[in-house]
Amino acid sequence: MFFSFEGIDGSGKSTQARLLSEALRARGHAVLDVREPGGTSLGERIRGLLLDPGPHVGPRAEVLLFSAARAQLVAAVIQPALDEGTVVVADRFYDSTTAYQGYGRGIASEGWMEQMNRFAAHEIAPDRTYFVDVPIATAASRRADRPNDRMEAMPDEFYERVRAGYHALAVHSRVLTLDGTRPVGALHEAILDDALSALSQRS
Ligand code: ADP
Ligand code: TYD
Repeated sequence: MFFSFEGIDGSGKSTQARLLSEALRARGHAVLDVREPGGTSLGERIRGLLLDPGPHVGPRAEVLLFSAARAQLVAAVIQPALDEGTVVVADRFYDSTTAYQGYGRGIASEGWMEQMNRFAAHEIAPDRTYFVDVPIATAASRRADRPNDRMEAMPDEFYERVRAGYHALAVHSRVLTLDGTRPVGALHEAILDDALSALSQRS
């Protein structure tokens, strides 16, 4: 079973991913946590190129680099874990590419992004995706105490387009949209309920 978490930076999705993994482990599931970009030695190096101040990365190079990191992560880590029955909890997956590069950068149609994402992900897809939705100002204030990486230095208009991208993706039945302004515990309960029900349907 493959769960992914999505949302703009500062939405609270990493908090929820961690809480879900802990709760599933406490119920006896083997759980693997991954984050994107990263999770393999190639992926961590790509993460550095994409997020640290460094060489200029143009929009097409950006989409390919995020996708390259994902291709490596799926082949080396996610697919083997799923094959052995481990639950995978991913802090971001390919919806981030559609939202940030497709909508945020405005570089590609959704059809093209979908094909690219499927290719990079070796055709696997999350079973359930939790989209933690918050207004841009809320997310900005939640990340006020940490330094901005290269993406986070983008203006509000960029984040408005990313958020609109997530709203467009939320039509897919695998995506559960959550009002991220609710308290951490209430969000966790809703996510855990949904995840347990997905797991019980699977077994
Ligand atoms: P993200 O992974 O989306 O960037 P984090 O989970 O790291 O977000 O959360 C960003 C900040 O917001 C953290 O300080 C976290 O404690 C806080 N936070 C997370 N969820 C909530 C919530 N539902 N309500 C209030 N603050 C939250
Ligand atoms: P990270 O620190 O993991 O995110 P967060 O702030 O959500 O904890 O940084 C990942 C950044 O990369 C984040 O700004 C979103 C961006 N990103 C893309 O633009 N496209 C992608 O495909 C992925 C996976 C991430």
